[in-house]
Amino acid sequence: MRRKFVAGNWKLNTTLESAQSLAREVASAVAASSPSVDVAVCPPFPYLYPVKQVLAGSPVELGGQNAYHEKSGAFTGETSLEMLLDVGCQWVILGHSERRQFFGETDASINRKIAAAIDRGIGVIFCIGELLEDRQSGNTESVLTTQLQGGLAGFTSAQVAQLVIAYEPVWAIGTGVTASPDQAEAAHAFIRNWLASRFDAQLAAGLRIQYGGSVKPENAKEILSKPNVDGALVGGASLKSDQFLGIINAAAELAR
Ligand code: PGA
Repeated sequence: MRRKFVAGNWKLNTTLESAQSLAREVASAVAASSPSVDVAVCPPFPYLYPVKQVLAGSPVELGGQNAYHEKSGAFTGETSLEMLLDVGCQWVILGHSERRQFFGETDASINRKIAAAIDRGIGVIFCIGELLEDRQSGNTESVLTTQLQGGLAGFTSAQVAQLVIAYEPVWAIGTGVTASPDQAEAAHAFIRNWLASRFDAQLAAGLRIQYGGSVKPENAKEILSKPNVDGALVGGASLKSDQFLGIINAAAELAR
């Protein structure tokens, strides 16, 4: 049974003060209800360590939103996986569509980052998803295949087992338009079948696939109840503790 995993991607939002108070609210509610789901928050880099202080002793885990594959050196502006681990991260988001779209990340550069993350032993939330035009032209599956092939090139199934995949249709991110539960399920099932044929059935059955794209408390339960949807990567709604907790509770109800 795959344990559901709800992660909040705070993107380029919050201040030191609001990041800490948001983390405090999430941590205390999660500690009080101890839901049988995994929960993580992914604040901007400067707030990782202050948020870690707030999360101390709570089951809520910490993730970075990106990282560079090199350990150290003359790479101005970059953050290494070692640094994320050093400040207490268990997770890193890699390949988010905003990184692909605005910062030129490619399947090859994402593959290098995932390889480094696997090597360092940090959990990876590997994001894939099609553009609206891909979906409209019937190319969703070929786009997902290309992203999976490129991002996971050269890995064994034991290495891929360290990942969580986030299926995030780009047209649903931050738009208020959610993939229908059936659209999400179809994409997740496609990804799982691809993993079974490229790697093996055991890996495919155990790997968690989150859905991301305008997940809110109102739509969470319906999407999360689909058999191949194992959690959510939440942007906008993770910035308000009541909304994020509503999504966590929806996941927890299904896990019961
Ligand atoms: P959203 O973002 O929930 O605001 O649509 C999701 C994401 O980009 O991970």
